[in-house]
Amino acid sequence: MISQVLRDARKYEETAEKAVAVESRPGFHLSTRIGWMNDPNGFSFYNGEYHLFYQYNPYSSHWDTMHWGHVASSDLLHWRYLPTALAPDMDYDRDGCFSGSAITLPDGRHMLIYTGVEKEIRPDGSTYALQRQCIAVGDGIDYEKYPNNPVLSENNLPEGSSKYDFRDPKIFQKADGSYGCVVGNCDKDRDGRVLLFSSKDGFSWNFERIFAANNGRFGKMWECPDFFELDGKQVVIVSPQEMMPQGFEYHNGNGTLCLIGKIDETTGEFVEEHNQSIDYGIDFYAPQTTLAPDGRRIMIGWMQNWDTCPGNASDRLWFGQMTLPRELSIKDGRLIQKPIKEIENLRQNKVSYENLTFTDVIQLDGIKGRKVDMELSIQPGDEKQIYHKFAVRFAQDGNYQTSVSFRPYEGIVKIDRKFSGSRRAVIHQRRSLVRTKGGKLKLRIILDRFSAEIFVNDGEHVLTVTMYTDQTADGISFFADGAVTMDVVKYDL
Ligand code: FRU
Repeated sequence: MISQVLRDARKYEETAEKAVAVESRPGFHLSTRIGWMNDPNGFSFYNGEYHLFYQYNPYSSHWDTMHWGHVASSDLLHWRYLPTALAPDMDYDRDGCFSGSAITLPDGRHMLIYTGVEKEIRPDGSTYALQRQCIAVGDGIDYEKYPNNPVLSENNLPEGSSKYDFRDPKIFQKADGSYGCVVGNCDKDRDGRVLLFSSKDGFSWNFERIFAANNGRFGKMWECPDFFELDGKQVVIVSPQEMMPQGFEYHNGNGTLCLIGKIDETTGEFVEEHNQSIDYGIDFYAPQTTLAPDGRRIMIGWMQNWDTCPGNASDRLWFGQMTLPRELSIKDGRLIQKPIKEIENLRQNKVSYENLTFTDVIQLDGIKGRKVDMELSIQPGDEKQIYHKFAVRFAQDGNYQTSVSFRPYEGIVKIDRKFSGSRRAVIHQRRSLVRTKGGKLKLRIILDRFSAEIFVNDGEHVLTVTMYTDQTADGISFFADGAVTMDVVKYDL
């Protein structure tokens, strides 16, 4: 049975999307079908295809009562819009179907687990919203909400847990076929933690333990947890709210955090060994991973951030993009991210230059564009003296540019979109401390009309930024203060 609320959304999106010109969207990054998009949800491989859902308000380009938008793809680059999967049409989710995840059941059905939000009014007139975990089961198009929803509520919470911040379930299957689920939560002081629940069949759930706890370190409430094994380590990912800066590692506001560690076999506890940011740029939040059939752990994130949205999106028919899916691995205890290999199939018009030494601004024949995959490696052009600064400027014309720059003495890579055409006082720059020796650096820059993703030193650091500069600004130039020697290979995508 499809509810009227869901029917309305499906009908609306089908008509409204016609007004969105293909060129007004990114080329190979997913953007919302219409209206507003935030977190990726339900990222999974089901019936021979990748499925991705997203936090979705079809009716305007601003966040409002959440639905789940839905797309499918065979290569993670060409996405096909499917009808809205979930709408807020039950009492327990009438104020929003918040983030969650998906898994395939043994009988072949696709199961979604999400947070149902229900606002209530206290006798004194103030409102509060309960957050509970709910299930919907379907065939890859239509999903039926489970009659016994919610499956996890305030009754399942440990002592001291907030029932108003209990959201974003990420389900996984264990080796014995049973299920685990990590859910974002905080205590009464809003200190973040990840709760672990378990289930034999995916439908009835028990609380297991507080799986990872902030203890006042990284922000407040922890949103959108994920948990998986990678290269012999255990990895917990969360998106903390209200962070405070720590050196160049963490910045103020909504951030992302990756905890790498191991499970203590005797206690079952997660033991942290290392923590780091996931993305060091400006527009990144709420990433979610899935396991590809070939064993790759693939992550996709919301390519915006609550704190850095341009704010004034009301003139757009769509607002919200996802990052490029990224392949994850661990090297020297750090999380490494690389663009999915499928992107190489989109490469055309190779242009390359080797051993170019320059000391000022240069432009290179054949190197321009807003849908680009470009790999650079640089080193000092003068053995005796390392250059002071190197920069690549892109989305550039006489008035506008966005840039990534590198200062070898400081080891700092900086992204700067101040001159991208933005008229808001949101964050425009961010700096990241990278590993570098002797002035050497590798960059891979992926441009797709409204974004740049900068992979530093083969994915040791990634900086993501959106820029809404007019598409006619398609120049790319290189700048050196001191002598830089550069190899560059560029493809159009
Ligand atoms: C993270 C988040 C989630 C929530 C969703 C609501 O961006 O706040 O915690 O489920 O967005 O849209």
